[in-house]
Amino acid sequence: MKNSIYIKLTINFLSILVLLISCTREQPFKKPPIHLNTNMDIQGKLKTQTSSNFFANGAGMRMPVEHTIARGDLKDDSQLYFGKDKDGNFIDFNPVTSANPSPKDLARGQERFKIYCTPCHGQVGDGDGIVISRGYPIKPPSFYSQKVRAFEDGYIYSVINEGVRNMPPYAPQIPLNDRWKIVAYVRNLQKNRQNLSSNLNDELINQQTTKSY
Ligand code: HEC
Repeated sequence: MKNSIYIKLTINFLSILVLLISCTREQPFKKPPIHLNTNMDIQGKLKTQTSSNFFANGAGMRMPVEHTIARGDLKDDSQLYFGKDKDGNFIDFNPVTSANPSPKDLARGQERFKIYCTPCHGQVGDGDGIVISRGYPIKPPSFYSQKVRAFEDGYIYSVINEGVRNMPPYAPQIPLNDRWKIVAYVRNLQKNRQNLSSNLNDELINQQTTKSY
């Protein structure tokens, strides 16, 4: 009889102990946890950008083998990627949409144009976008000026791809095919306005057609 009281007391005591110990879960400990099987969790290695005495140049990271090209970065088609032929001259055709862009390609070009170009170049490319009206120091040229009309498709592509003077590049934001579709759309804008007023000079064309939207 007495024994069974002791057993009960011990069980109670142990249960309270377990309860108390379990309360300490998720409490911050200063010491690192005991790691019985380290597997590969803890290993001597060099982290990126750290120095190392092991290599002669003191850098932990190794240079890639010469001529290494990152996957997807092989830009072997200079017309498509740079808008230039193999002699380095700008091409005057559109390798993505061809001479007669499909309505779908033009619609895509228009949509991308409205997102990425209108802030500075204006709704139809007159060079009077909202950013310019709020004080961007350089006004872009009108897409209907003789100068821009005379540009090759490849040059307009390269302006989007690499930027020009005071215009930043848009290659990081706009995927390759979309850049060419924007070029097709700009050409289409120019063609349509040219038809409207084929005998007028640039200044008159601009006066006549700006703010018509
Ligand atoms: C942040 C404002 C800004 C945006 C956005 C912008 N441009 Fe421009 N763009 C400029 C400025 C400013 C110039 C004039 C650069 C200079 O002459 O210094 C320019 C010039 C140009 C030119 C003429 C280049 C030359 O050699 O004269 C073309 C073509 C052009 N932009 C096309 C585009 C297209 C297409 C887009 C959309 C993908 C675009 N731009 C987006 C500001 C912008």
